[in-house]
Amino acid sequence: MMKKTVIRGTGKAIPSRLVTNNDLTKMMDTSDEWIQQRTGIKQRYWVPEGEIMGASDLGLEASHKALEKAGWKPEDIDFIIFATLSPDIFFPGSGCLLQTKLGLKSTPALDIRQQCTGFLYSLATADAYIKSGLANKILIVGAEVHSSGLDKTTRGRDVAVLFGDGAGAVCVEGVDTDENIGVLASVLHADGKGADALMTELPASRLPDRMALGLEGDEIARYYPVMNGQSVFKTAVRKLPEVTREIFAKTGMTIDDIDLIFPHQANLRINQAYQQFMKIDEAKIFNNIQKYGNTTAASIPIALDEALEQNLIGKQGDTIMFIGFGAGFTWGSVIYRF
Ligand code: COA
Repeated sequence: MMKKTVIRGTGKAIPSRLVTNNDLTKMMDTSDEWIQQRTGIKQRYWVPEGEIMGASDLGLEASHKALEKAGWKPEDIDFIIFATLSPDIFFPGSGCLLQTKLGLKSTPALDIRQQCTGFLYSLATADAYIKSGLANKILIVGAEVHSSGLDKTTRGRDVAVLFGDGAGAVCVEGVDTDENIGVLASVLHADGKGADALMTELPASRLPDRMALGLEGDEIARYYPVMNGQSVFKTAVRKLPEVTREIFAKTGMTIDDIDLIFPHQANLRINQAYQQFMKIDEAKIFNNIQKYGNTTAASIPIALDEALEQNLIGKQGDTIMFIGFGAGFTWGSVIYRF
């Protein structure tokens, strides 16, 4: 018998402050029409203004829900994997902060810094840890508080309108079985040549003065995420089909074996381009970016939790594919069977 990594419970946390596209027009020169046409996004949720809430706080709420569905107590977790690009503080990692908020004393915690593919890297890592025997019950969290770090002026509008806050958590467990279930295959990639196309520069250890104090005028924008939108878009629509073919070649599967695809929610147009190029039935692709914007490491686990809540998936034998592309560049895919 072989160890298989199965999902025991999922949860999500969405902050309470609803921000519509029209709300953004009060902060910057943009329009509901521009945002919907280019990205499909209608609204997103941000942490309420003035509230002290980091990625680990949203992660905690999502974790409690996932733990409850799994029937686990925090003490049952033997490893925490936390994916975020918006950690509570520069260091230590949000996984450590979440660990103590869960009331745990020595459970190991690992942060994953892979942005939009953070959840894919986390799930593949959890699967490898489980198969190697290093851990058996793993809490995976993807959480982001983007809103405190966005340039909400017209200067930053190309990026600011895209991102939402949120968290998703998934409890996974190793089980001994001959059945072909659980994580069936993972494929991960990175190409650091694309780093400049989507990044937040500061604070930067590579500078003699990491904090770059005394920045003036537009220099302050170095603290905000910057993006070459067209480069990201074009590379994403090339890499997503490529990685789909790669994981199908690895598993001997085809699109007919997949019941539902969970693409990372970066831009509805990217996912539609992928769907049309691959000639995939629209109903086979789960999108919810319209409601949440891009929640980066949280987007796939939030989508998974929603699809399970809606009973779209979860029956024995249901097979799903996670796929994503993002900053790094990084991209990848995981196929999972219930
Ligand atoms: N509201 C209104 N106008 C905006 C705007 C906003 N929020 N953001 C940019 N614009 C303007 C630009 O200034 C530009 O104006 P100009 O023609 O006068 O110079 C115009 O809209 C077109 O900008 P452009 O960047 O060419 O638009 P685009 O068609 O490439 O769409 C994105 C921009 C960001 C929607 C698109 O490139 C994209 O989605 N890229 C991928 C982003 C992504 O997925 N990021 C996350 C990856 S994980």
